[in-house]
Amino acid sequence: MLYPKKPAPADYPINEVIRQRWSPRVFSDKLLAAEKLKSLFEAARWAPSSRNEQPWRFVYATRDDRENFSRLAGLLTEGNAWAEKSAALIVILAKIKFTHNGKKNYNYMYDSGAAAENLFLEAVSQELAAHEMIGFDRQRAKTDLAVPDDFQVAAMMAVGYPATPKDLDKLEPDLKARELAGRQRLPLDKLIYKGKFPNL
Ligand SMILES: Cc1cc2nc3c(=O)[nH]c(=O)nc-3n(C[C@H](O)[C@H](O)[C@H](O)COP(=O)(O)O)c2cc1C
Repeated sequence: MLYPKKPAPADYPINEVIRQRWSPRVFSDKLLAAEKLKSLFEAARWAPSSRNEQPWRFVYATRDDRENFSRLAGLLTEGNAWAEKSAALIVILAKIKFTHNGKKNYNYMYDSGAAAENLFLEAVSQELAAHEMIGFDRQRAKTDLAVPDDFQVAAMMAVGYPATPKDLDKLEPDLKARELAGRQRLPLDKLIYKGKFPNL
């Protein structure tokens, strides 16, 4: 289970995995078997997509695979340096055009986001922790990771075993407070409109 526990203070009943998911910046230093990641990618594979195009692709490295891990970690911004301590980094790519006709797929990022969320929820349900990031050099990712032109670099994700109370105690007070901070969302009535958009 993720530590610390920060269940969403949901107003209506929701699936427990969704309720417990959050984005920690501290992980246990335990390594992650590449095989364990396969289940997460398998979950991503079964996401829905427009015309079943499956535009998502993943470039990953586990921390014990030093050469590949440092290539991915080297892309992170300073603000995301915490992710260098995760057990695995995953870059999420999205194929821009449909394979069957070469036309632009307007849902390529939308569908790849769905796959990423499947991966994230599978991680939480397998007692792992994950955190998505946009703070990395996406331009350099294209060259460093040899990404073909018809793919867009969408996001990165750090995955690992959840931190323990000891891991949190080692943190500077401000970083510890950040991990313990509560979670917030817009209220449901600001997100849903019955029938049509209101005059706001
Ligand atoms: C596409 C995307 C990019 C994000 N980029 C970053 C990032 O660069 N650094 C970071 O610390 N968190 C990043 N986050 C995490 C969000 O800040 C986090 O999901 C949001 O604050 C909600 O918190 P929760 O996931 O704990 O519920 C990103 C999340 C998403 C979905």
